[in-house]
Formats: sequence, structure tokens, C-alpha cells
Amino acid sequence: MKALSILGSTGSIGRNALDIVRRFPERFVVKALAAKRSVDLLAEQIREFLPEAAAVFDEGTARQLELLLPAACGTRVLYGEEGYKMVAAWEPAALTLTAMVGAAGLLPTLAAIESGKTIALANKETLVMAGSVVTARAAAQGVAILPVDSEHSAIFQCLQGQRREDAAQVLLTASGGPFLRRAREEFAAITPSEALRHPNWAMGAKITIDSATLMNKGLEVIEATWLFGIPQNMIRVVVHPQSIIHSMVAFRDGSVIAQLGVPDMKAAIAYALSYPERLALGQPLPAFSSGMRLTFDEPDLERFPCLGLAYEACRQGGTLPTVLNAANEVAVNFFLEERVAFTSIPMIVRRTMEAHVPVDHPGLEDILATDRWARKKASQLASSYGR
Ligand SMILES: NC(=O)c1ccc[n+]([C@@H]2O[C@H](COP(=O)([O-])OP(=O)(O)OC[C@H]3O[C@@H](n4cnc5c(N)ncnc54)[C@H](OP(=O)(O)O)[C@@H]3O)[C@@H](O)[C@H]2O)c1
Repeated sequence: MKALSILGSTGSIGRNALDIVRRFPERFVVKALAAKRSVDLLAEQIREFLPEAAAVFDEGTARQLELLLPAACGTRVLYGEEGYKMVAAWEPAALTLTAMVGAAGLLPTLAAIESGKTIALANKETLVMAGSVVTARAAAQGVAILPVDSEHSAIFQCLQGQRREDAAQVLLTASGGPFLRRAREEFAAITPSEALRHPNWAMGAKITIDSATLMNKGLEVIEATWLFGIPQNMIRVVVHPQSIIHSMVAFRDGSVIAQLGVPDMKAAIAYALSYPERLALGQPLPAFSSGMRLTFDEPDLERFPCLGLAYEACRQGGTLPTVLNAANEVAVNFFLEERVAFTSIPMIVRRTMEAHVPVDHPGLEDILATDRWARKKASQLASSYGR
């Protein structure tokens, strides 16, 4: 029986994870949950899974949540940064699933690491903004960071039983998102509702927009460098619109190992929760029949400049990935609120990066200060691009 703490339990990854717990009650027990403000769903989850603790964004939300809970449920309701950290490090939990969205995941993830939890990491922004700090603290605590992102889970699986020094290249696949074939001149008119319709994956709003700009793939390149301790020049992004191959590793003898499956996050989440075992999920296999086509292409950096910006941030390192991440979060929010155009997202990120003087080998305080600075700068820029 593995005890879990789930951060971001009301989101797409969190709900999928709870579905796995529901199906395997003899294997998992939920000890703590966290969300931002979705109190109705969180209350439902608490009534079903009876965690010892739950955290929400602020005190007002905590009071709303308490009103929705039966007096006898016994769940301790916490809130704010301290509440999230306590839930992340909740004592009986052995594994913390970090499925909050954005930079908000950083401090709770560090709290979970400090208390020795195994991390099932969905919250890629944490590694993008603070990869050096997070991986150093995990190494110092002897804590494993297991990938939940399907591409990184695939790479992790391809590397099982292999010698790391035999790996020559990581081939990170990208669906290309909803605008893979859209003409560049039409990008400025793209609306949030169009960008939120991903062809293959059902995900939260922020990552769906990141997939449409290809920033998501850029964030994943940076995430992969930290998760697997590999240099950026070993990673090649390959557009594979069917999302059947979740990623591949090429070895120095010319062999390529790929991990395949239907595009559904359940398998990657379950593997991180039950590693090294695999659960009988009953997932369908990809349709290996005459109609199956697996195609590959190069990413188009002209139409998708966010990917190039992420390459640049990764190459330069220091605090530049922190700036990339923060400016992107701000720009995506402005786009979702219909305050800037789709094409403004890379412009806001680029100009914020250009205005930054990177700090080499940043500590946590440098990273948090840079994150604050970049959010302010990007918001000013976004306001000036406003519709
Ligand atoms: N979805 C996928 O298929 C997928 C795949 C790979 C990686 N990921 C990564 O997994 C993470 C979660 O993605 P998602 O698609 O599940 O997102 P989502 O559906 O938007 O869910 C986000 C979760 O985080 C909570 N949250 C949002 N802002 C917060 C804040 N400031 N403080 C605390 N909690 C906050 C939300 O609570 P409320 O509901 O209360 O707002 C919700 O529970 C992201 O980092 C994403 O990049 C997702």
C-alpha cells in the first residue's frame, strides 16, 4: 500500500491520478490533496478519499471548503504557501505527485524533497525554472524524481537496463499541436478557443496553449536535460503528429528504442506511481493495422518561435530559463484572457529575455527574485501589446 500526496488534484493530471487510485484501492491510499480554488470538486474528492489534509490557495477558499465538508470527515484544511508545503511533505505519504500548474509548484516540490518523498513530477515548470536547485536537493536527499510527462516517461522507460554512456541521442516527439499546418499569416487571428482544441491530448488550459505554440516542447527539452543529466545537444525534437511514439532513445550502435502507446496520460502517471511495477490498466493498444501511419517531420522554428526561445534559454542557462518560464506564464494568461494575440506570446517572452541580465549558477533566492522580476516585466510588455 503506497501512501500518496497529490498536489493539483482537481486538474487533468490530478483527476487521472485519482482515477488510478480508485481502480487500485489495494495499492494506493491518498493522505493529502491540494488544489487552488476548485472547492466543489476538491470537497467531492475529500469525501471520497478521506485524506488527512487538504490545502487551497488562501484562507477565504479554505473557509469555503470547510463549509462543504461533513463535520466528521476529519480532514485538516490548510491554505497558502505554508499549507501547500505541509501537504507536499505530509508525513505518512511516501510519494508526492506534483501536478500543480506553473511556478507555484516549486516551493511545495522542494518541501516534498526535503522531507524525503519520492517525487512523481508532472509540474515541468519547476524543473525549467529551478532545475539546478531541485536536482541538487533531490540528489542530496537521495530522493528519486520520476517523470510523469509522457515524453519523459518514455525516455525513462527506453533507458531502463541501458548504460547511460551508451545513449547517443534523445528523440523527443511533438504532436505539433493544432496549428501544425496553419499558414503563418493566419497565426495572429488564432483565438483561445481554437488553441484550446488539442488534436490528441486532453489537458489543462496552460499546457494546451503551450502545446499550440510549441513552448511545451521547449520546456520539455529543458526538463529532459535536468531529469536525465544530458546536454541539450543530445536532444532532438521530432514532429510526430499521431502521438503514438512518446519518445525514443538512439544508442551508439545505431539501435533506437521507442516507447509507444495510445495518447492517454494514464499509463505515464500509473508508471510513476507504481514504478518499477506496471499496473493492469486495460488500455487499448495502438491500432497496429494496415491503416496505421507513423510520420515524422522537423519542427518549424519560423512559425513556432517559442521553441527557439526555449533552446536559447537552455543553451545560456543560469536564470534565463526562469525568465522564459515566468514570461511565458504571463503571456499565456494574457492570451487566455483575450488581452493579447497568439503571436504576442513569443514576442513577450523574447523581449523579457532580452531585458534580463542572467545570473550564472543561481541559488533559490536568485531564482525567486528573477521569477518576480520577469513576471513584472512581462506584464508591462503584455499590457503594451494589449488589444
Ligand atoms: N495534462 C497533461 O496531460 C499533462 C501532461 C504532462 C505534463 N503536465 C503538467 O502537469 C501540470 C498540471 O497540468 P494539468 O494539465 O493537470 O493542469 P490543470 O488541469 O490546469 O490543473 C492544474 C491544477 O493545479 C492547481 N493550481 C493551479 N494554480 C495553482 C496555484 N497557483 N497554486 C496551487 N494550485 C494551483 C489547480 O487547482 P484548481 O482546479 O483549483 O484551479 C489544478 O488542481 C502542469 O505543470 C503541466 O505542464 C500535464
